[in-house]
Amino acid sequence: MNRYYLTTPIYYVNARPHLGHAYTTIVGDAVARWHRLLGHDVHFLTGTDEHGLKIQQAADAAGVAPQKFADDIAPLFEQAWQRLNISYTDFIRTTEQRHRAGVSKLLQACFDAGDIELDSYSGLYCVACEAYYTEEEAQNNICPIHKKPVDRVEEENYFFRLSRFEDRLLQWYADHAGAVVPEHRVNEVIGFIKQGLNDFSVSRKTLKWGIPLPFDKTHVAYVWFDALANYITALGYGSDDESLFQKYWPVNHHLIGKDILRFHCIYWPAMLMSAGIEPPKGWAVGGWLLVGGEKMSKTSGNVVDPLDLVDDVGVDAFRYYVLANTNYGNDGDFTFEGLIARYNSDLANNLGNLTSRIATVVEKKCNGLGTAPQHDSALASIAQQAVVAAGDHWENMQPSKALDATWSLIRATNAHLENHEPWKAEPGQTVDAVMGDALEALRIIAILAYPAMPDTAQEIWRRIGLTGEILDQRISTSGQWGGYVAGNAVLKGESLFPRRKV
Ligand code: MSP
Repeated sequence: MNRYYLTTPIYYVNARPHLGHAYTTIVGDAVARWHRLLGHDVHFLTGTDEHGLKIQQAADAAGVAPQKFADDIAPLFEQAWQRLNISYTDFIRTTEQRHRAGVSKLLQACFDAGDIELDSYSGLYCVACEAYYTEEEAQNNICPIHKKPVDRVEEENYFFRLSRFEDRLLQWYADHAGAVVPEHRVNEVIGFIKQGLNDFSVSRKTLKWGIPLPFDKTHVAYVWFDALANYITALGYGSDDESLFQKYWPVNHHLIGKDILRFHCIYWPAMLMSAGIEPPKGWAVGGWLLVGGEKMSKTSGNVVDPLDLVDDVGVDAFRYYVLANTNYGNDGDFTFEGLIARYNSDLANNLGNLTSRIATVVEKKCNGLGTAPQHDSALASIAQQAVVAAGDHWENMQPSKALDATWSLIRATNAHLENHEPWKAEPGQTVDAVMGDALEALRIIAILAYPAMPDTAQEIWRRIGLTGEILDQRISTSGQWGGYVAGNAVLKGESLFPRRKV
């Protein structure tokens, strides 16, 4: 069976889960669910990033020990993901023992390869980024990302000899076209490598909150070295049982935000090459989800809690909105008005209306029993096109386009009903045929909508009289026209998406 390994970034525990974290994680969940429908053996990893100066400082400010601080925040991520119906296979915390063991092994492997060496360093550091900057990058000692003053640090540290990997990385990207999507991001990576790579420090002597280096316990590992390793430590790398690592590595896609591209596409493959481990197969780089056109921040007071929105519109409407409204890779913009507008147009007027219309007509004109689809229905080819297009878009990490393809089938099915007006006709063969086609289209729509809206899709499945779980359907067979069998009891239910006032 094809295996598919997908990861989200691991989130810093200095803040509660917000809309941006939720967006990245929902994209991951939908893609993971799509691959399950393809029959792939999916491993979907998320987690929390708990070491480093940023967390140490946040814990100090809260007046608690960093472990306690992390222990309080990490469950908020797990709870948020459960509420958002995130079907992760594993949740890793970097303070877990399994992670420490793997980080040690990776550090030791790079050290044994001669790529980690002691050196002294003086430079500029931004704690919010947990990253070093050159004088050129941090003009006037200001962080280019956070626009706040950077610290000058002088330390004796262990360094990873990233500069030795320039040619190998360039060669690797030349040999693996398409590994980074969207494609323009790889140019950014290559451009950065071509400017010349600086060695980076992989240890801290002044900080205690981290994983000690196996070859010098007076230092702890740099938080990014520690964090990146999660993608293999969660698979058991460095433990007694590395079978998951053997099975799932290299990862198919790391989902990341554009802010962490360099760490993932330069540091990480170089660290792996040094340790003799294969680089990732792919990276899917997302843009920013802005709020009302602005970056979310505590100071602007525009940080959106995804769970407030779930309380308001329901989990599937929220998931649908974030997936459909932003082209993955570009920046997107969240507004509450936009959420309600899409809710009313795409969910209430299109999907919800279609489901209730079908149930109403089948009840009135077909004795409440589903009828059979026509082999030569005009809807059949539209449905097949939607299945193929949605599949291509999910494959290319483009949920908004996959949903667009799905909604084109929803609109076509509504149009099919409007053209035939079965509600005006006498019961009989014609009505049965029209409704059989509509039921069959709705069956396929439920499957295609499932990655984005798992509960709604399953409810539609149940209402058209089908049994079992959509999760157990396979696109290769269930995605074919003609699967709906006549005679199922079709159920009317509450409106799936009652219209909302704007
Ligand atoms: N801990 C590091 C990642 C280590 S991965 C080995 C980190 N954490 S973070 O919590 O600050 O952000 C992680 C990711 O969350 C970002 O890369 C991005 O994918 C996502 N987002 C955070 N804010 C976001 C938006 N406003 N919009 C979209 N995604 C954003 O960096």
